[in-house]
Amino acid sequence: MSPEEYVSFDDLQISKVKNLIDEFEEELIHMSGQCMDIGCGPGDVTKNILLPALDPNAVILEGTDVSKNMIEFAKKTYGNEKRLKFEVLDIQTKSLPEKYISGFDHIFSFHALHWCYNIQQALENIYCMLRPGGSILLLIVATHDIFEVMKIMAQDFRFAEYIQDVKKYISPFNDSAEPRKKLRKLLKNIGFEVHHCSLRETTYSSKNSNHFLSSIISIYPFLDKMPHDRKEEFKKEFTREFEERKITYKTIQNNQEQTFVLDLYKILIVNAQKKYNNIA
Ligand SMILES: C[S@@+](CC[C@H](N)C(=O)[O-])C[C@H]1O[C@@H](n2cnc3c(N)ncnc32)[C@H](O)[C@@H]1O
Repeated sequence: MSPEEYVSFDDLQISKVKNLIDEFEEELIHMSGQCMDIGCGPGDVTKNILLPALDPNAVILEGTDVSKNMIEFAKKTYGNEKRLKFEVLDIQTKSLPEKYISGFDHIFSFHALHWCYNIQQALENIYCMLRPGGSILLLIVATHDIFEVMKIMAQDFRFAEYIQDVKKYISPFNDSAEPRKKLRKLLKNIGFEVHHCSLRETTYSSKNSNHFLSSIISIYPFLDKMPHDRKEEFKKEFTREFEERKITYKTIQNNQEQTFVLDLYKILIVNAQKKYNNIA
């Protein structure tokens, strides 16, 4: 897992989080207290996009991630920012550390919860970490071609031994006929008051898929176990399968013809709250 690679290629993720922050701008600016960004990765989105959008006076933002490499990178890069902390935390854990229980006023998670095949456990943990009245803002990828490509890669004899539990790399909503209903029901059953839960088709155009693919491939932990040549083969094959599914189109920019690759996928956006009268 390479934080350096992720941080150099996460333009797509940055643009989608910026859109969401713009949409919820008025709510975010009044958010203060203890906050958490789950699946913060290398911390660039936490530091440069989320933190400036929150109440400037009274926020402690804790970035958490299951990856030690990501957290080490975030600490090293943003360690001197007083209002930011970074800690390793697997949001799917069955034994949430005591210190997190009812400790947070607002919890965020962008482009991370689709890696949680046990989404029920992850959402229950988020609920437990909130104080009564606390809120969540989530961006979860519901469907994407990378999940379909991963199913194929897991059946390829060259890679199968490394990708042992393929469901870990497929969104828990990818194969659902009604992802929005599934998520809303999960949230309500846990006890959340759901203010907003939408399924959105979204697009991203780029001159090629390299940046996006590099950012995704950089976070697959099983790659660390592959010998160098096999890793290169995986990247090549993953890219080929992904690009086969893409639409390319031409447009004129500055009097020059340019070719773009269009990525179409679906995301779930959630804004919900822990009710005041519920006890964690
Ligand atoms: C695509 S990055 C997203 C980074 C950032 N939030 C953004 O929007 O650019 C997804 C991150 O989720 C983390 N992640 C995956 N499973 C997780 C889990 N169970 N608990 C916490 N973080 C997890 C990965 O390690 C990775 O750093």
